[in-house]
Parts: sequence; C-alpha cells; structure tokens
Amino acid sequence: MTSCRICGGRLHEFGDFGTQPLSSGFLEPDYIGDEYFFRLALGVCASCSMVQLMEEVPRHLMFNGHYPYLSSGSSVMRKHFEQTAQHFLRTELTSPDAFAVELGCNDGIMLRALADAGVRHLGVEPSESVADIARRNGIRVTTEFFQESTATEIREAEGRPAQLVYAANTICHIPYVDSIFRGVDALLADDGVFVFEDPYLADIVDKTAYDQIYDEHFYFFSVTSVSAMAQRFGFELVKAERLPVHGGEVRYTIARQGRRTPDSSVAALLAEEKVRRLADLDTLNAFFRNVEKSRDDLVELLRQLKAEGRRVVGYGATAKSATVANYCGIGRELVSFVSDTTPNKQGRLTPGSHIPVRPRSAFENPYPDYALLFAWNHAEEIIAKEIRFREAGGKWILYVPHVQVV
Ligand code: TMP
Repeated sequence: MTSCRICGGRLHEFGDFGTQPLSSGFLEPDYIGDEYFFRLALGVCASCSMVQLMEEVPRHLMFNGHYPYLSSGSSVMRKHFEQTAQHFLRTELTSPDAFAVELGCNDGIMLRALADAGVRHLGVEPSESVADIARRNGIRVTTEFFQESTATEIREAEGRPAQLVYAANTICHIPYVDSIFRGVDALLADDGVFVFEDPYLADIVDKTAYDQIYDEHFYFFSVTSVSAMAQRFGFELVKAERLPVHGGEVRYTIARQGRRTPDSSVAALLAEEKVRRLADLDTLNAFFRNVEKSRDDLVELLRQLKAEGRRVVGYGATAKSATVANYCGIGRELVSFVSDTTPNKQGRLTPGSHIPVRPRSAFENPYPDYALLFAWNHAEEIIAKEIRFREAGGKWILYVPHVQVV
C-alpha cells in the first residue's frame, strides 16, 4: 500500500520488521505445514498523520474460532473494565431503556458489569472461541465482524439506538474504519457517544514499545489522527484521556459533530503532539533507530546469558512477543519455553519462533535463572505475584522502555 487507508494521502514508510507470522497463530507441536507470513512495516500519512501498517492481513486469518486471547487474564484489566462499566452506568447509561454495544467484547470482561446492572447490551465479537465464553457468562453476543451492515441489522432488530458504542483494543485492529463510522452513525443515538481505547502512539515512541506493532494492530492512534478521522466521518473528538493500561493508551470519546462541548483534554493533547512533532518522519525514524538498538541489546544479553549457561524462559506468550521473537531472531535455543496462563496457547508453539508454550506451573518447576517478561504491560501485577521467583534468586529481563535486568 502506498496511500493512507483512511484519507488516501501519501504514506511515508519508516519502519520494516521483515516477514512476520500471525501474532496469535500458535501452532500444534507436530505442525509441519507452512505458516502465513506477511511484511510488517509502518507508514505515516503525510496528510492526516495516521500511522498504519503497510500491509493488511485478511481479518478471518486473525479473528476466528481459534482466537486464543482472553481479556480476563489479568486482575488489573478486570478491575479496569469493572471501573469503566461503572463509569458508563453513572454517565451514559442512566435511562431505563439505555442500550450499549461493545465491539470486540472478547470474553465479556466489561459487559459483565452492565449485564449485572440489568442494562440492555450486545457484544459484537467475530472470534467464536472467546464469544462463546462471554455467552456462557450470560452476556448477549453476536458472532460477527462489526461493519455498516451489522450495525444496520442491530439497529433494526433492537428497535432503538444505542447510547453507547464502546470498544477496547479493537478499533485499531480494523483497517476499514469508514464502514465502522457509518455503522456507528446508523446505530448511535443522536446524543450518544462512541468511546474507544487503544495503544497511544506517543507511549509507543517514548517507550520504544515496538512490540505493539503486529498484524492485529493496523493503526497507531494519536489524538491528532483520531481527531481528523472523526471529523472526516461527520463526528467530533470531544475527550481524550490517557490510560495507564497495556503500556499506555488513550480513551477517545467521539460524539456527533456539534452535539457535545469538547473537553479541554483534546486541545491540550493536540498541542502537545504538535510541539513534540509526534507524527513527523524525523521523530518516527528516530523511534525506529531506538527499535534497532533495543533489538541488538536484547539479543546480546540473551546470547551472553546462554554463554554463561543460564536458564532463560519467557513469561507471557503475548501477541506482542511475536514481533520481538521474530524480529530479534529469538528461538528456543535462547528462551527454552514461554509460560502462559491461556489454555488455548498451552502445549503449542509460538508463531514463527516455535518456542513451546507451557502452563504457569512449569515456571516454578524449577524456577529459571532469568525470565524474559514478554507481558511487560502487566509487569507490576506479575512481578508482585511472582515474588517467590525473586526470592529464589531469579531475575526479570525487561525490554521496555529499554533492555534491563531487574
Ligand atoms: P496481553 O499483554 O495482550 O494482555 O497478553 C498477556 C498474555 O500473558 C496472555 O497470553 C496471558 C498471559 N499472562 C500470563 O501468563 N500470566 C499473567 O499473570 C498475566 C497477567 C498474563
């Protein structure tokens, strides 16, 4: 692709991670077939500032009945979504006939609280594997990709508009945002809000968090690019809040144009992004030089530990770690296995790098010398609950914001 997926402006390429597999494409241990690979590279639009992937992976290859990721795997995230739901119940969903739709509801981590409060809700989740879990938890879910036609069908079937359309870690996964916005237009009440939260480009750049870049993350939002995107489709960005979760995100609140007074947070973050020239090619090229250094430092450390005869395992078979392992060339000779709590990842091999994934029990049986924390976005939670690993002399390897042993 050479032009922006949203506005057709010129795309300037600035970072190439080479060929990469599907980040959630965990393999059976005896798998000997071909894996799907694509070129993972980034571009920035000279016109609307949107940072995006240069190549699009077909959606059905990523989100289907095998999708393993469960949003409820972290206690911090469970609390985050519980608080999010309570906030919506106090603000947008106060009327007795309130209706809320969540796009990409996963296992229902957020909708659970709305269901408990008796609020009419619907999750739209294309991955059957996780939608089934939500359904078993008593949440209303339709197993579909959200797009304009889905929205029209929901609007008709429900016979009422939605006061809230919410999406966490979902909108940045969807290249065809034009259809998303047309769908939101069809579904949303006149005074309703479309709220979504996704990794923030400024946090990715500042922390050299290059592992946020993988097949599923098509867009890397900033307040500047989201504001332009909303405007393009007849909406307006009215609030932008920085969130600490998943390594740094922004929650965007979007309303129909002129329906709500924009909060000062929008102007403040727009100004900040302008001053620091967040979407300038110079800034992004400098980011990519930091990425290369981070890769070199990590590989050097892992090779050194291997030469010293240390045992290193990975912690958290995250989708993010697919980029790290494949870009750095880390295989099971450097990291003997990855511990992960997700049932559908255990017993399989990591995509592209083919490192075995084992249950949490393998981590302490016996503890390794070093644990490479692939789930660094959950560092506080994990390091606290794995206190015995450190007591046993174990050390954590982190690579965000830079490679370090702690
Ligand atoms: P995420 O960073 O995309 O949320 O993925 C986190 C992955 O790490 C997911 O596969 C679950 C796993 N995990 C653990 O194995 N142990 C933990 O304590 C946590 C929080 C996550």
